[in-house]
Amino acid sequence: MAFNNPQKPFNLKPQDFGKDFVFGVSTAAYQIEGAHTVHDKGTSIWDQFTSKKGNTFNNQHGQIACDFYNRFEADILLMQSMNIKHFRFSLAWSRILPNGTGTVSAEGIDFYNRVINFCLKCGITPWVTLYHWDLPQALQNKGGWVNREVLSWFENYAQVCATHFGDRVKNWMVLNEPMVFTGAGYFLGVHAPGNRGLKNFLPAVHHAMLCQAIGGRVLRALVSNAHIGTTFSCSQITPFRDTPKDIRAAQKADALLNRLFIEPLLGFGYPTEHVPVLRRIETYIKPQDLKNAVFDFDFIGVQNYTREMVRHHYLVPYLRAKIVKASKRHVKTTLMDWEVYPPSMYSMIEQFNQYKGINKIIITENGAAFPDMLVDGKVHDIERLHYLQAYLEQVHKAKKDGLNVAGYFVWTFTDNFEWAEGYHPRFGLVYTNFLTQERIVKASGKWYQAFLGS
Ligand code: FCB
Repeated sequence: MAFNNPQKPFNLKPQDFGKDFVFGVSTAAYQIEGAHTVHDKGTSIWDQFTSKKGNTFNNQHGQIACDFYNRFEADILLMQSMNIKHFRFSLAWSRILPNGTGTVSAEGIDFYNRVINFCLKCGITPWVTLYHWDLPQALQNKGGWVNREVLSWFENYAQVCATHFGDRVKNWMVLNEPMVFTGAGYFLGVHAPGNRGLKNFLPAVHHAMLCQAIGGRVLRALVSNAHIGTTFSCSQITPFRDTPKDIRAAQKADALLNRLFIEPLLGFGYPTEHVPVLRRIETYIKPQDLKNAVFDFDFIGVQNYTREMVRHHYLVPYLRAKIVKASKRHVKTTLMDWEVYPPSMYSMIEQFNQYKGINKIIITENGAAFPDMLVDGKVHDIERLHYLQAYLEQVHKAKKDGLNVAGYFVWTFTDNFEWAEGYHPRFGLVYTNFLTQERIVKASGKWYQAFLGS
């Protein structure tokens, strides 16, 4: 396969993807900004979660992270020098509304105005995500995503963002990967806020699902010429063995991991036929909810890194399905133990492309963590370079085959705080020295620069 075959040259150019195809890089506020208590910034659930021992790798946190708050000009200039023209970042809700609702922070607004204006000055288009997992702790204290009041909290937050930034920001994403923040944060308890069980998960899912459309409607109403999307994590799911039980297990996993949030948004309701336990979500559904969950997004953000193999497993409650870890399958993996499997990208574009009602797909995240080595001031991250090339080739193949894909963003620009995994997995095109905050463009970053400039 291409990623194992250095003989096969990568010879695509940006023009080969069509003239309106966008290329960029993606980031998220908590993972890069730092400055967690500057001015009147409120605490977020990630500030809180990382302050408790045992929640993250070596108890690491994002209090400084990449210090983007103080270094954004240098980072955006570096981006510009690397020919990167589209920059996806998220807004920290607790920087803008320290208590989640109520008083707007003038400093918070000012910070994002400076970031947005500097991007524009450098010829870089900002792509803004409203919510990339850092709920204000003040709202979590009232139940967070489990409390239906989050619908009005989120609507108000979206209005504040749209009114302050909508004159200059035209590309918006409402949520980042709702399946991950509800699943990891409200079912497994491995991400903030660290809650568990169906009684947390199901209402969080339903409310996040409704907020997708609420955010979309607010942006549509308040931002002229807006280009609005929302993003989803997705992975190709393959049955471990070709047996009816494993095939059924794979269908369940696909329904939960890939279909749960997109299908109600398109008007198809929750995929309960494959995951019967989801029927319990009905407790939280009010009349009109399924109608109000529908919104006609301009684009859907597909975020793909790997594929999963799934087998039947009697002991797993509700699902009776289990992911077979990549490390147990003797395949090439990244530092996250995610299989390197480029065809998964094609497969997910194809799967989403089949839905009626998706206007277009943008790959809003794709990338890989490998054990980078800094040698003589250089990072020769050839594995990441091959990974990115091989996945990009799959995007190109999808485009050539007539699938409706219109952009590609690398996760991520600089190495940053990788949630519960801390600073250990490095995903950047640019190496971050977390002691000095020095940035060093890796071989993969130099390749992306040359590709974008070609
Ligand atoms: C995605 C997240 C992003 C980053 C990458 C590696 O699930 O959206 O913040 O952690 O994975």
